[in-house]
Amino acid sequence: SAPKIKLNNGLEIPAIGLGTWQSKTGEVASAVEYAIKEVGYRHIDCAWAYGNEKEVGEGIRASGVPRSDIFITSKLWGTYHTRVEECLDETLANLGTDYLDLYLIHWPVPLNPKGNHPVFPTLPDGKRDVAGEWDLKDTWKQMEAVLKKGKVRSIGVSNFSEVKLEEILPTAEIIPAVNQLELHVYNPQHKLISYLKSKGIVPQAYSPLGSTNSPLLTDESVVQVATRHALQPADVLLGYLLAKGIVVLPKSVTPARVASNYTGTIAALEKLDASDIKTLDGLAAGGKQKRFITPPWPVDLGFENWPKL
Ligand code: A2P
Repeated sequence: SAPKIKLNNGLEIPAIGLGTWQSKTGEVASAVEYAIKEVGYRHIDCAWAYGNEKEVGEGIRASGVPRSDIFITSKLWGTYHTRVEECLDETLANLGTDYLDLYLIHWPVPLNPKGNHPVFPTLPDGKRDVAGEWDLKDTWKQMEAVLKKGKVRSIGVSNFSEVKLEEILPTAEIIPAVNQLELHVYNPQHKLISYLKSKGIVPQAYSPLGSTNSPLLTDESVVQVATRHALQPADVLLGYLLAKGIVVLPKSVTPARVASNYTGTIAALEKLDASDIKTLDGLAAGGKQKRFITPPWPVDLGFENWPKL
């Protein structure tokens, strides 16, 4: 089974989780059921904003594996920064569970709760409609409160740069357990990863395969490393991150890929050597740096390599 990583609160997180962003409601339940029952996944990554948590919950229950054996993560959406427990309660009801293993602030961007759209309130100029004066420190206080209430076992953040983390850390009673980021060979964020390590915050990789129509799967160096070890490119991409102590969250609704992203990645972790890691580490610095996920937030998130506002 997948290795586990210890969080800063002593709890453990399975290092391979199934991603569910862009998994359609008609296909996600069976993918989740298959992942847990047939492959051995024990970690499912969800979010309120994905709009499919009801179906994810159905898949988890259909697997027959006890809730207590499965690590479930979800995320607070921007329109709920002022009312964290409300978003969490909706997620719990949709998933059909009474607690989460991990709850994350999805983006460090509070959105107007009374805007023109429940998920993406938008201003006339096309930019997202943010919640004026709201302070992230207060969102984090509410995250701490739902943890203390026992509704979630760990709390963390997502899409937080060092700058954004420094906005909440000075007043945080509880240090975030994880920071979930776009991480892959073309966007390795080496500096941010070492910062997180220094703070005891575990990095998690979303879009570890480069999201849809990914050029990573056909990258010449990735394919070469894969061929040499009789692995698939996806195994190499995921094993590379795992080898760095990064939790990987590959998304798939295709049974063969759901399976190989688990078993192949574990195999890759054993096979990849220091020279492979060095080759892969060098891709972004060698000119291939690329982000695939850059929503139009009208605030500076403080990331390197973020397109200009
Ligand atoms: P699908 O869900 O149709 O199988 P990421 O995790 O980086 O967001 O990538 C998800 C995308 O990559 C989805 O389009 C998914 O397609 C596809 N994918 C997932 N696993 C693999 C794999 N092992 N090989 C090729 N494509 C994959």
